[in-house]
Amino acid sequence: MSLQESLAWRYATKKFDSSKKIDADKLNNLLQTVKLAPSSYGLQHYEIVVVEDAAVRERLKEAAYGQSQLTDASQVIVFAAETKIDEEYVKNYISETAAMRQMDREKLADFEKTILGAISRQSDEQKLNWSHKQAYLALGVLIGAASELGIDNCPMEGYDGGKFDEILGLKEKGLTTSVIVTIGYRAEDDQYGKLAKVRKKDEDLFIRI
Ligand SMILES: Cc1cc2nc3c(=O)[nH]c(=O)nc-3n(C[C@H](O)[C@H](O)[C@H](O)COP(=O)(O)O)c2cc1C
Repeated sequence: MSLQESLAWRYATKKFDSSKKIDADKLNNLLQTVKLAPSSYGLQHYEIVVVEDAAVRERLKEAAYGQSQLTDASQVIVFAAETKIDEEYVKNYISETAAMRQMDREKLADFEKTILGAISRQSDEQKLNWSHKQAYLALGVLIGAASELGIDNCPMEGYDGGKFDEILGLKEKGLTTSVIVTIGYRAEDDQYGKLAKVRKKDEDLFIRI
């Protein structure tokens, strides 16, 4: 299927078949694709938590107002934004870039200065907002990639972020929940899968100048 056909096939899955699990190779394929998502300056301002533990998922479900996807999907993926994009974070990124591209770190001095300038002009709140945006971009890549692999998915914002952070121990890691997506396989009787897609008309969506 083309990406367009895959996205027409997918829908925000409300009821997963809890007996079906995504096999390890497929999950890894999905994660490796998400890893290729672009980010501002390439900083990848987030980490991706893959939750499979049943007891943890029960707690997450409670914090997500009882939404069944949290326990019935094959995995819960949590995009967690970096809360500390500081000088050290940027310096590490530049060192990593130099090492991966086998180049002299000095050659990246201008690039490093540009990023350090960009972060120095932002408040902590602005930087966190910036991180969240990158996480959402990765979410979009995941949704497309999962759909192409025939993996059902439901992006979700309906949860208490503070409780998610606490359950997953994110604060200690310098992270906070941005957005989540549950992945797995739809239950045959999920009525939402049979509904027509509702999207804006072309003339209300596309502005051509
Ligand atoms: C950021 C985001 C948050 C969402 N939060 C939830 C949620 O908490 N629970 C849920 O069942 N669906 C959630 N949805 C699914 C949307 O309601 C759904 O994508 C939208 O109605 C369009 O339907 P479709 O994805 O089936 O085409 C969310 C979608 C997005 C993109």
